[in-house]
Amino acid sequence: MVAAGACAALPAMPGAARAQPVSRGEPVTASVSMSVNGENRTLQLDTRTTLLDALREHLHLTGTKKGCDHGQCGACTVIVDGQRINSCLTLAIMNQGVQVTTIEGLGTVDDLHPMQEAFVKHDGFQCGYCTPGQICSSVAVLDEIKAGIPSHVTADLTAPMAVSEAEIRERLSGNICRCGAYSNIVAAVSDVAGRQG
Ligand code: FES
Ligand code: FES
Repeated sequence: MVAAGACAALPAMPGAARAQPVSRGEPVTASVSMSVNGENRTLQLDTRTTLLDALREHLHLTGTKKGCDHGQCGACTVIVDGQRINSCLTLAIMNQGVQVTTIEGLGTVDDLHPMQEAFVKHDGFQCGYCTPGQICSSVAVLDEIKAGIPSHVTADLTAPMAVSEAEIRERLSGNICRCGAYSNIVAAVSDVAGRQG
């Protein structure tokens, strides 16, 4: 009753028109070029296409997985210009000219990357859905530690950085494994770190 009365008291807006449906038109597309696993690729993409969808749907590199599509699980992790990113959180067009490495670019079935070998050796996966993201992230984690980039659990910012279990767990905390293979993943990353010296 009150609402109806309040509405009735509102003066009519002169010249007010009903909202017109927004014309959606054709999607805006753009040419996007980047190096993917060492190969130059150019795609004509809807500008709203994420890097993840460009890789999976347009380049058919389905090793990179879509988990949450919201930056919360890490399944879509790839390495862009040496740094790991969630490819679901960046538009392809924002990555003009970059170098992307996906799980397909790290190693091959006959010539696995040391991190891939270590995941196999330590049984660092069960269903395998999170594994490409875990491996890309793990490769980047070791590079981050080698470069002396501290994390939340780094106690001494002036001492040489060590690859501890705490560092690995903290740095991989954005990569969720629903199978709970975490302890074996840590073992795999520690193994590779030990071999790198
Ligand atoms: Fe990108 Fe989950 S799919 S973070
Ligand atoms: Fe299944 Fe990680 S191995 S989600």
